[in-house]
Amino acid sequence: MWLRDNMMFDQVGCTYVIFGATGNLSREKLMPALYHLDAAGELDAETRIVASGRRDWDDARCIQEVRSWVEAKARDALDEAVFNRFAARLRYFRGDLGEASTWPALKAWLNSRSDLPGNMAFYMAIRPAEFGLVVENLGRQGLLQEGEYWRRVVIEKPFGYDLQSAQALQQNLSQHLHEEQIYRIDHYLGKSTVQNVLVFRFANTLLEPLWNRNYIDHVQITHSETAGVGSRGAYYDGSGAMRDMIQSHLLQLLTLVAMEPPVSMQAEELRDEKVKVLKSLRIIDEEQVPEYAFRAQYSSGLVGDSLVKSYLEEDGIPPDSRTETYAAMKLHVDNWRWRGVPFYLRTGKRLAEKQSMISICFRHPPQQFFRDTDVGPMKQNWIMLGIQPCECMRMEMTVKEPGLEIRTRQRSLDAQLRSVHEAPIDAYEELLLDVVDGDRSLFLRYDEVEWAWRAVDPVIRHWEKDQDPVPLYAAGSWGPAESRRLFEKPQQQWRHSMDPEE
Ligand code: BG6
Repeated sequence: MWLRDNMMFDQVGCTYVIFGATGNLSREKLMPALYHLDAAGELDAETRIVASGRRDWDDARCIQEVRSWVEAKARDALDEAVFNRFAARLRYFRGDLGEASTWPALKAWLNSRSDLPGNMAFYMAIRPAEFGLVVENLGRQGLLQEGEYWRRVVIEKPFGYDLQSAQALQQNLSQHLHEEQIYRIDHYLGKSTVQNVLVFRFANTLLEPLWNRNYIDHVQITHSETAGVGSRGAYYDGSGAMRDMIQSHLLQLLTLVAMEPPVSMQAEELRDEKVKVLKSLRIIDEEQVPEYAFRAQYSSGLVGDSLVKSYLEEDGIPPDSRTETYAAMKLHVDNWRWRGVPFYLRTGKRLAEKQSMISICFRHPPQQFFRDTDVGPMKQNWIMLGIQPCECMRMEMTVKEPGLEIRTRQRSLDAQLRSVHEAPIDAYEELLLDVVDGDRSLFLRYDEVEWAWRAVDPVIRHWEKDQDPVPLYAAGSWGPAESRRLFEKPQQQWRHSMDPEE
């Protein structure tokens, strides 16, 4: 939830059923997050976790595996007492999602166990193509029916593959679930630095008068990674950077930067304002896509000191794949506040640095006062919101250098959002707890997803038809220089760093 108040919710026991529990998401995020929640005393004593997967494990093997995952990710050394308590919550259910017999077996198994609370959250840590199938089968078995107990389903992204498939998936889900039972996760909304965008905007009076087209030249939202696709090749190749990051996480960041103040922080009020932003996005014609979007794929190169392979050489990637590992897009929010201010979104794997940041570039001062001095053209002010790894807010200003001459330099006012002794909390911890609390404010409502698809669909369609070679960039670089063609003014350029640019 936005601004958690621990006194607001009583702890509720529930059964967290994780489909795909032996996979990457469960290993990297879900199990460590649940362990940390247990360590923080946030899980009710009754809560149980059912790990479901195809592997032929039993409870003991599952606990052994989970132990190694948690050990690798625990913020402090693994606490034996906490882990033993956590392990006592774990059960393993072996089942192949594609086999019809799995579903009655799951139902019978859940019903036969008196130690599993009746409130159930089903987490889809599985391939997106299987979301519909699983919900349909749970529905048929009556496992989604609410009465005395609630039943909730957590759907990972991407929700659909494009607008049409998102609509079809929604139609399928709505046959078995009410909207209130569906938790569409975008883990970016669980990051405290992302939540801080709203606090920064709406708890600081001095910014609001400047936060519009009269003062802001353009906005950049960047998520760059040094890692490649790793073991996720099979998923990633069917997705690509536009679907994997821009349609979801980066468009969500855009809504937070651009939205109007909501009436309150209640889930529906917030989501109403976010949807208004998405509805205001200018829809691009398919023929205009080259002006608005750019894609590329990494070739081999040096990341740090290591020579890494090209995308086409990664495991599970077809040698002729045209999937983009870099995507950049220009968007316009055609409303009173933002008309004429371009929002440039950019993401990529195997780039020069790992970071996520929002950079707001202000307009030039209206007059060039220092024309007869050594001061060159005046630099623009920037406000930068570091999402990760730097969790900070920087305001960059022009100041005079010491000395007799009038020379200027850029200096930034720097606010760290987290001090060193405050441990970072993983986004999944917050979101897993919100599901139990029934708080959907940090989850996506269906109309948000649908409008986000409308914004990127023309690009996806154009790229599917386009037969030109996909531009390449060397791993470890900032991507191809041609992506600059998206900029509307010659002085606009990608901002790679949060440090002042001299
Ligand atoms: C996921 C994407 O949703 O977000 C990944 O599927 C990406 O490809 C990841 O690496 C980035 O998340 P974070 O929290 O590491 O910034």
